[in-house]
Amino acid sequence: MATTFKRPDKRKFDELREVEAKIGIIKRADGSAMFKFGDSVALAAVYGPRELIPKHKQDPEKALLRCHYDMISFSVTERKRPGPSRRSTEISYVTSKALEPVLQLDAFPNTVIDVFIMIIQADASTRCAGINAASMALANAGLPMTGLVSAVSVGKVAGEILTDLSKDEEDYGHDDKVKETTDIPIAYIPKLDKISLLQLDGRIKPQELKKAIEAAKKACLKINEIQTKALKQVND
Ligand code: CDP
Repeated sequence: MATTFKRPDKRKFDELREVEAKIGIIKRADGSAMFKFGDSVALAAVYGPRELIPKHKQDPEKALLRCHYDMISFSVTERKRPGPSRRSTEISYVTSKALEPVLQLDAFPNTVIDVFIMIIQADASTRCAGINAASMALANAGLPMTGLVSAVSVGKVAGEILTDLSKDEEDYGHDDKVKETTDIPIAYIPKLDKISLLQLDGRIKPQELKKAIEAAKKACLKINEIQTKALKQVND
């Protein structure tokens, strides 16, 4: 049956928002990057590897990867209270886990690699934009990596599987009690053919989930190309 659902910004179901990626945007950092999905904008800065202080936290076998995700207060429509929250703690944790598989942490014992991710404007999928920026910033810092991590949010809205959900789409058909849409942020490492993040908020049938994962992988391949191209561009 032909669908009647149209995306608010008229995109095709498998189409990304406008993507922009740039490296070397923060001079004092060892590596940095900006990644944008439409109106969701993430900045990432990497510091390290450097000696982990206090020393009792050091691991003689490997570096500690520490991700810090946050949003600026006016990145969202309703002012966000400054400082850490349950949400930012969770996103920081899953971001570290999404990035770890490409890093050779055992090459840098007793050290820490700090990755600061700041969302300066939010319109959904900010954890994915943050992972994309962080992955590029780590490469820009010259860290040995087995591949780039690419992330995108896919989901089910009005019965359709969509790629790169905007906030309008995430909120489609919601009232105060019922969540109608399903949001699935996915991080994929094409070089390793590995999914390093998959979260699911909402309901979906197994067959639809399969379709959503395929759509995410396809989008991540495009994102990976854009990230790679940005990394090859010489900084001024
Ligand atoms: O951003 P992401 O989709 O990774 O995470 P989320 O927790 O599902 O948040 C979805 C969206 O809700 C964010 O991207 C923001 O646009 C919005 N949001 C907000 O308006 N205020 C907050 N305090 C947190 C999120």
